[in-house]
This record gives sequence, structure tokens and C-alpha cells, in this order.
Amino acid sequence: MCGIVGYIGLRPAQPLLLNGLKSLEYRGYDSSGVATILSNKNSISVRKSPGKIVALENILKKKPLSGSVGIAHTRWATHGAPNQENSHPHLDCQSEIAVVHNGIIENYVSLKAELIKEGHKFTSQTDTEVIVHLIEKFFKSGSLEEATRKTIARLEGAFAIGVISSKEPGILIGARMGSPLIVGVGKGENFLASDAPAILDSTRDIIFLNEKEIAVLTKDKVRVTDFSGKEIPKTPSRINWDITSAQKSGYPHFMLKEINEQPKNLENFLKARINKETNKITFQEQHIPEETLKNITNISVVACGTAYHAGFVGKYIIESLCAIPVAVDVSSEFRYRDLLIDKNTLVIAISQSGETADTLAGVKEAKRRGAAVLAICNVLGSTLTREADGVIYTHAGPEIGVASTKAYTAQLAALYIFAFYLAEIRKILPQEQINKYVAQLRLVPHLQQEVLKDQQTIADLAHKHSHFGSFLYLGRNINYPSALEGALKLKEISYIPAEGYAAGEMKHGPIALIDEYRAVVCIACESKVYEKMVSNLQEIKARKGKIITIATQGDEKIREHTEEVIYVPKCNELFSPLVVALPLQLIAYHVAVKRGCDVDQPRNLAKSVTVE
Ligand code: F6R
Repeated sequence: MCGIVGYIGLRPAQPLLLNGLKSLEYRGYDSSGVATILSNKNSISVRKSPGKIVALENILKKKPLSGSVGIAHTRWATHGAPNQENSHPHLDCQSEIAVVHNGIIENYVSLKAELIKEGHKFTSQTDTEVIVHLIEKFFKSGSLEEATRKTIARLEGAFAIGVISSKEPGILIGARMGSPLIVGVGKGENFLASDAPAILDSTRDIIFLNEKEIAVLTKDKVRVTDFSGKEIPKTPSRINWDITSAQKSGYPHFMLKEINEQPKNLENFLKARINKETNKITFQEQHIPEETLKNITNISVVACGTAYHAGFVGKYIIESLCAIPVAVDVSSEFRYRDLLIDKNTLVIAISQSGETADTLAGVKEAKRRGAAVLAICNVLGSTLTREADGVIYTHAGPEIGVASTKAYTAQLAALYIFAFYLAEIRKILPQEQINKYVAQLRLVPHLQQEVLKDQQTIADLAHKHSHFGSFLYLGRNINYPSALEGALKLKEISYIPAEGYAAGEMKHGPIALIDEYRAVVCIACESKVYEKMVSNLQEIKARKGKIITIATQGDEKIREHTEEVIYVPKCNELFSPLVVALPLQLIAYHVAVKRGCDVDQPRNLAKSVTVE
């Protein structure tokens, strides 16, 4: 939610900041702005615009900004409408300080009242503006760094901020508490950003700021301290993400590119984690001792949205392979309910971004109760990975499309191999059985590739059904969560109301919805619940529902019960969620494209939900 970029160096700041913003647009896209310290005048100039970054770009074309120090922001509104006044950067009364902010300042009402009483003039409805006026207040006696430190001491809530001042034009300050912020280390130049893609063009050497740290950047140096001013030595980590992974590479949308990346990602993930000869599973960052994992009596999964659906599939996988009870909660419920977890529980927190506020709060609560926490996460160095006792990185590369696709199947892959590992160390499954499963899992990238070979058929089918006003998604057993995920994908990018249901629940209510205006996507691949799904198809057909069925290649009989079929290759039911995910993603994508929706940046959403 909201993206920050900052630059200090010798190059013109504007194009670097603008490019950085473009690659952070997935974090928020209702308004944006840039501020630079003008080189010849030592004063701050700002350009802002409501709407997408392209609107800001057009303004900058007409009125460019000079200067080699600057900050920029793309916003997902929390306080105040997404208009010109509320866009960041915000300025102090003298226009000598500029601030960008990601997060929420919870005590802004009282701070604002105090500052107004002292004579500060506010021009926006944002919580952010109190930050810049507080810095102004403290800057009267001391340096910008000290003023920022004193300001932070007054703030409650979550934030990552970037600060510049024309009175100290040689420094750029960043600070984080509860929202992500990284420092990019260059030669004769340094960067601030909410996420690595913003600066990958210029550097891969990254310092991941921890909670309650302040970074003071000059063009030649980065100094990190805690909030009290104590210096913290840092060594940059080199990140290996390929820059092309943050580009569309000829695809019309990031989402389509990311859907198509899944077979390769899965193949690479399995190669890196499972030894080719011995099938031994290795995790580099999974530090929870084997002894702890042998002794746990239950598992609790905590995650939001798509990651929750991955966790829900994980319940089926782990219960079936490891014979341990698994509870699954959405993080926003987990954090507030009376949890029955303790040191005998393993909590698995799943998150693409590793910055989801509710998931992080759930993890804190789990740790407080003594549970070990395993993170399944995509973003290197994110808060979740630092809070957890062990991490399985999904290594899916940056996911830019707001709707999660490749991160989902990568989370599933992590859950499968973790289940193999757990089954092995707890001696639940013999090695030969695990070997068989590993062999089947290794085939899945080819099966996914097969699905992707015939994308046009799925596109045609999606276009044909794109006028339907509502969709129902049905699945059973391990593909019940797949149905939930299919429905989520469709609703978030096409805005068509879509519900996922366990097909066995139809008679308990949802069947009342079925008529000729209802599109129903049924997952009826070969499985132990196949016949049950066929019964559901018959019931829906009898009520004139418009059925699209995802079925196993060669199942011609299914055509008796369904108007439309998308065939997927034959696959062990256990691994089928990795295969059926792709047609479900493609249906959502093509329906949304046909309806003219903004697929990569759907309305009201942001990629990383860093506030509650
Ligand atoms: C859906 C989607 C969201 C996220 C959810 C959790 O396509 O992207 O539902 O899955 O906000 O985000 P992470 O995984 O970053 O914790």
C-alpha cells in the first residue's frame, strides 16, 4: 500500500524516480507525486497528480523537475480522497521539507490539533502531513536527522518515510516502523524504495532496513541507526532478480506473463530444493530444528486472500501425507480469536509480500504463545522472513500483477515439499512412497505447460461467458480451495460477483441461485470425488445453469453433463491444484480483458496490504 522511491546522487533524479514509481505502481495507483531539491536554487519543487502515474508523467513532460536529490510516492488512499491535495509528497509551511509516507499514523488527530494550535497550516486531509510539520517544528533547533528522530518518537502506528530538505540538500533520510523500506547502494549514488523492483535498474546491492531503523543517505554513504541514534553496521545483500522479471517482456499484461511463468518457476524451485539423485529435500533458510518438527502435535496456517487459499490446499496435503491436524485461518480472524496454540504447534504463515499487516500480527501472537513459526514467502528480507523462526522462500521472482498467480502455485509447491520433508522426518511415509510423489511432482511443470499450449480455447470460452452477471465456482476435496481461488481471481479483476463453494454444499443453499443467467465453473477432474462432481453437474444442468467444466483429458463422458469443457492433463489428484489453477487464472484474465478492466491494477486494490 503506497510506494516510496528516493534518490541522492549526481544523475538527474526525475527520470530515476519516475521509473521507480512505475515499477511500484502495483502498491497503489490512485495518485502520485515527486519532489526534488532544485539544483540551482536549493529550494524544493513538487509535481503531483491524481490518477495513475502516467498522469504525473504527462505533467512532468510539460514541467520537468531538475535536481539530483528527490523523493516520490504512489498512493493507495487511506486518509482523504485521492486528489491533488492529498497526494504525497507533503510540504511544511515554508516548503523547505518534503515527506513521503507509507502506512497509517494512528495518533494524527491529536498531533494535528497540537500543531495547528502552534500555528502550522495544513493543506490536506492526510495523516501524513503531521509528519512534515513535526519535522519543521523540531528542525528549528538541530539537524534534519535529529528533527526526524524526534518526530518519529511522537508517531504511533505504522510507517515508512522518506524525507528531504532544501536546508540540508546533501542528505536523504528514510525510516521504517511497520512498513517496508530498503536502501539501494550504488556508486556515487544511493536509493530508498519500498521494494526492490524500483531500483533494480541501478543497483542490486540492497540493505533491508529492520523495524525501528533510520537510514541517512548521502551520495557516497549510507549510515543506519536505531531510533535512539545508535549506529547499526550493515552489509548490503546482493539480490539476483533478473530485471526482465519486473518487465512485461512482450506480454500485454504482467498477469498474463506471470501465469505463463509458472511451469518454469516450478521446475526451478523443485530443482533447487530436491536432490536429483537422492530426492533429499533441502531448505536453506528453514532453521526450525528437526526435533521441534518431530514433536509438534498440530499445525495452524495463517494467511490472507490467495495465500490463505494456498494454505487451505496445504491442509489437505499435510493432513493426507503427514497425519497431523491442520487448522487454517485468515489472518484477520486468527489474530483476534482465542487461539488454542502453544509450543506444540507449528504456525505456517504464508505471504507473497511478507508485509501483510494481519499476517504479521498473527505471527506475533503465535510467537507470544510459544509456537514455532515457519514462513512461506516470496520477498527476500521482508518483515515476515525476519519474524519467523524458519523460512521457505518461494523464489517466484517479483509478482507485479496485483492478482496473485505465480506466487500462489509457488506457495503450493513449498507446501508439497514441506509435507514430504515432514512425512519423512516423522517417519509417516516410507522413502519409496515419497520418491513416487516426488517423481509425480516433477512432472507437473510439463502438465502446466500442456495447459498453456491451448490458451486460445480458454480465452474464447472466457470471452463467450464474459457477459454473465455472476459466477459460481465449485470443487470438492483438495480442489475446494481451488474453487475459492478461482472465484477470488475473477471477482478481483473483472468485478463480477463470484462465489466459491464446496460442491457438496449445493443442496444446502447455493443451488437456489442456479438459473440460465448463472455461469458455473466446476472442477471435475479424475479423483475420488469425480462421481460426486458429476452428480452436481447434472443438478446444475437440470436447472439450466451455464456450466464450464475443468475435466481430465480423455474424459469424453463429461460432455453429457456440461456445455463447455476445458481439458487438463491427467494428474494425481494430490497435485491437481497446481494444474487446475492455470485455467482458473486464465478464465479470470480473459473475462476481465474482454470487459475492458485494468487487469494488472484492479480498482480499490493494492498489492501489499501493510495496514489492517
Ligand atoms: C489476490 C491477492 C490477495 C493477496 C493477499 C495476501 O490475488 O493478491 O488476496 O493474496 O492480500 O497478500 P500476501 O500474500 O502478500 O500476504
